[in-house]
Amino acid sequence: MDVFTVNEETCTKCGVCADVCHLGIIDFQKNSFPKPFPEISNQMCSKCSACLIVCPNESFIHRDVSYEECPKIDSTLNINYEQCTQLLKTRRSVRTFKDTPVPRDVVLQAIEAARFSPTGNNVQNIQWLIIDDRDMVENLRKAGNEWLIIGLKSTQNLYTPLVDIWEKQIKDGDDIFLRGAPAIVSTYIEQDNSIGASMGAYVCSISLAYFNLAAISLGLECCWEGFFSVAADTYPPIKDAISLPEEYKIIGSMVVGYPKYKYKRIPMRNQAQINWR
Ligand SMILES: Cc1cc2nc3c(=O)[nH]c(=O)nc-3n(C[C@H](O)[C@H](O)[C@H](O)COP(=O)(O)O)c2cc1C
Repeated sequence: MDVFTVNEETCTKCGVCADVCHLGIIDFQKNSFPKPFPEISNQMCSKCSACLIVCPNESFIHRDVSYEECPKIDSTLNINYEQCTQLLKTRRSVRTFKDTPVPRDVVLQAIEAARFSPTGNNVQNIQWLIIDDRDMVENLRKAGNEWLIIGLKSTQNLYTPLVDIWEKQIKDGDDIFLRGAPAIVSTYIEQDNSIGASMGAYVCSISLAYFNLAAISLGLECCWEGFFSVAADTYPPIKDAISLPEEYKIIGSMVVGYPKYKYKRIPMRNQAQINWR
């Protein structure tokens, strides 16, 4: 069976389906019905569904994706520029959290939005790791703070001047590694994936950025945790505790929780450096 057909009674031969196909695998000639290229279209379709969801009168029939699976867009929910910039400019890396667990259904709601983040060739090969077990988070916290200080003492890097201060703060009970948060959210991917290692890193990061914004709309706040991702990849006590199969690599991580404080202003940031050609 071909990957798509069209309803010849309703298709107007407008060719929009072919116009939006990112692989160019819809063969459209003026005044003819769109058709698949023999074999190639069946083999290559990424199921991105653009052809189907753009069709003005639902004449495009995809073998693997139904109209029922693609809900109609409610444009009354669209946000304007001011609302969009408000969300983007007020997103902060939050490092102080209430001692309140994050309900799993709220995390799932944020992931429900984040799963719509773009992936190269629509491969959708991101996996999510959510660590919210209290004991496990505490063990990771302890191991991670120790790792941080050992690591900072053994190499020169951006944070080297801070090592004595951080060591004392950790000794006094602060948590530089996980910021006292109740949960960790990471995205990970098979290292040898079909879109390549660097593209894998992009897609995991993009999806986590989506997660962050969705989480804010649910009352949560997040902080990217580069330290956690590095430790999860390199520090055996943390790597072992997480126990992902060897072929997978954690790319992005955030801590998540309900914020203790509210920011009152938008911070100063550099003007964008823009080069037009
Ligand atoms: C890839 C990445 C890794 C980060 N890792 C950490 C981290 O390990 N710990 C931390 O406290 N903040 C981390 N941050 C947060 C940055 O410090 C923060 O984004 C920056 O100071 C700007 O603040 P803002 O996010 O509130 O705008 C990270 C941010 C990014 C994008």
